Amino acid sequence: MNRLREDIEALGKIGKDNRGGNSRPALTYQDLEARKYVVDIMKDAGLRVLVDKGANIIGIREGKLKEPFVSTGSHIDTVMNGGMFDGVLGVMGGLETIRQMNEERIRTDFPLALIVFTDEEGNSFMPFAGSKFFTGEINEEELGKLRGKYEDISFREAFKRFIEKVEGEVELIDRFPFKVKTHMELHVEQGPILDAKKIQIGIVNGIVGVERLWINFLGKQSHAGSTPMNMRADPLIPASETVLKVRQTVGEFNEMVGTVGFLEISPNVVNVISGKVRLGIDIRSLSEKDIEDATAKIMKGAEESSLMEGVRMETERLVEKPVPCSPKVIEDIKSSAEELGYSHLIMPSRAIHDTQVMASITDVGMIFVPSKDGISHAPQEWTDWEDCDRGQRVLKLALLKELQNK
Ligand code: GLV
Ligand code: MN
Ligand code: MN
Repeated sequence: MNRLREDIEALGKIGKDNRGGNSRPALTYQDLEARKYVVDIMKDAGLRVLVDKGANIIGIREGKLKEPFVSTGSHIDTVMNGGMFDGVLGVMGGLETIRQMNEERIRTDFPLALIVFTDEEGNSFMPFAGSKFFTGEINEEELGKLRGKYEDISFREAFKRFIEKVEGEVELIDRFPFKVKTHMELHVEQGPILDAKKIQIGIVNGIVGVERLWINFLGKQSHAGSTPMNMRADPLIPASETVLKVRQTVGEFNEMVGTVGFLEISPNVVNVISGKVRLGIDIRSLSEKDIEDATAKIMKGAEESSLMEGVRMETERLVEKPVPCSPKVIEDIKSSAEELGYSHLIMPSRAIHDTQVMASITDVGMIFVPSKDGISHAPQEWTDWEDCDRGQRVLKLALLKELQNK
């Protein structure tokens, strides 16, 4: 069996969810087991393994020069009940590339860093916690204070737990101190385009922006029988209207998508009028202005519905801007796909990735391979092994173009 498949399948066995798929939110015990696996195989491949204060794992392959670095990588945390390729392919594809370069005794001018970013999915502490620390967008103190979503521990405590697990195997650093000239990520498309068009490689020209809008609707918890209809402040009413408002609003913009994937009703009991409802809304588009306009419209609707019902609202917003990929990296990937004779398509990414955070410090690009029926963030997520191999070969060629000082 080939090594890439073996590694992807090995991680697929860690953090199995009894509903199917994998549940491995960042820095949970399941994720720590997966991290340990990756640290071990990085060491086997001869890498120096660093861990920064963002819990990012950074495997170093030396070059003739000390810097700047070329970097690649992705994440190994999963969403709850997710699939086995999202993120993992980029990490294992990078590692397989390094093994092949070692076997072929390739010496590069620039050093290569293989990075496993922390909490890309944000199911534990914060989306992009690791990449935001890597690029300097957040500091150790801000990160340390974040609290877990599934486990009530701080990032600092979870970090300590991780370090205990890999003690003696890794070198601890504060933050990666070297300049990075290019960052590339191999990933499954997570959408239906390549599979439907039977195209082997996607070359990403830009990554969508996303708005995560969290709304708490606060009403008056009370008896479902004895509270007259005109004396209720039921937070589920404006929350429900907001769910529908999201669907209606995104339809008014070009190529926008919007989802309410999180809804928590308290106390969630059949004969009780809820006291609190929490909604998590995810809106995406390649236009920053459209995201702003749609969010304003959804908020206005939510406020009007709340006022009608006598419900109070609290909101939190987290916005990631859309980013273009660098023309130079797009060209590296395109020419690599052409040299290998693979069909390809230039396309945007409608999923978000650490690469968009890395874009604030370096030139970036992404390689996509097909996702069967476009399914991802689900146990049915699947990419054929030949497609994984094709993506890895393109990654290797494209990285080599950046690793030599031309
Ligand atoms: C991450 O995979 C996202 O697109 O939400
Ligand atoms: Mn991913
Ligand atoms: Mn994901």
